[in-house]
Amino acid sequence: MSKRIMILNGSPREKGYTMTLVGWVANAAREAGAEVEIVDAARLKCEVPGCIACMGCRTSDEFRCVVDDEASDVIARIPSQDVVVLATPVYFMGFSAQIKRVIDRMFSLFKYDDEKGRSYAPGLRETTFALIATAGGGESDGLDLVMKNAEAITRFVGSSVRSLLVPDAHSEHGVQPDNAELRERAGDFGRDLAK
Ligand SMILES: Cc1cc2nc3c(=O)[nH]c(=O)nc-3n(C[C@H](O)[C@H](O)[C@H](O)COP(=O)(O)O)c2cc1C
Repeated sequence: MSKRIMILNGSPREKGYTMTLVGWVANAAREAGAEVEIVDAARLKCEVPGCIACMGCRTSDEFRCVVDDEASDVIARIPSQDVVVLATPVYFMGFSAQIKRVIDRMFSLFKYDDEKGRSYAPGLRETTFALIATAGGGESDGLDLVMKNAEAITRFVGSSVRSLLVPDAHSEHGVQPDNAELRERAGDFGRDLAK
């Protein structure tokens, strides 16, 4: 059966490195037979600026953020994916705010088991995660921290993460990067996600 892949693109730049890589990865995965959806996380219409810690998802029986907007629709569909890709530029040593506001609301996919004293996310058992991260600096200028962050998130979920990390990614605004070697790496990554 073909893999269902959702890519959450957290870059606000339409022709930047992150979006270009997302396109290359998505095309390769589609050619390898996967069903790929790209979500423009930076342009989702949201009623709240991120998780507002209302804890509504802790009291509700549903695995869905109680704030009803475009982000809650996307997040509620995450458990039906085989692979979820978090794609982000490194901003101030971390994820972009545009993707973080979606990641934090993934809290709604968890419930808390009082007896075991831990959170659990039954819907995410079959979902694997991947990271595409681009950085203007080197690997130790924040890219490493985003990778650690993604590893910690997926450990919490009970999954693992595959990554495509791209340092030295600076492009002129509005000029789409074109790099044959990077395109090849992105293609390999997309084909691997589709397996
Ligand atoms: C607000 C802001 C913060 C940034 N912070 C970092 C950083 O901490 N480390 C780094 O290596 N690059 C940093 N950069 C550079 C971006 O990560 C890099 O240019 C990235 O490839 C941009 O992705 P895009 O082409 O998809 O916009 C920053 C850029 C911006 C706009």
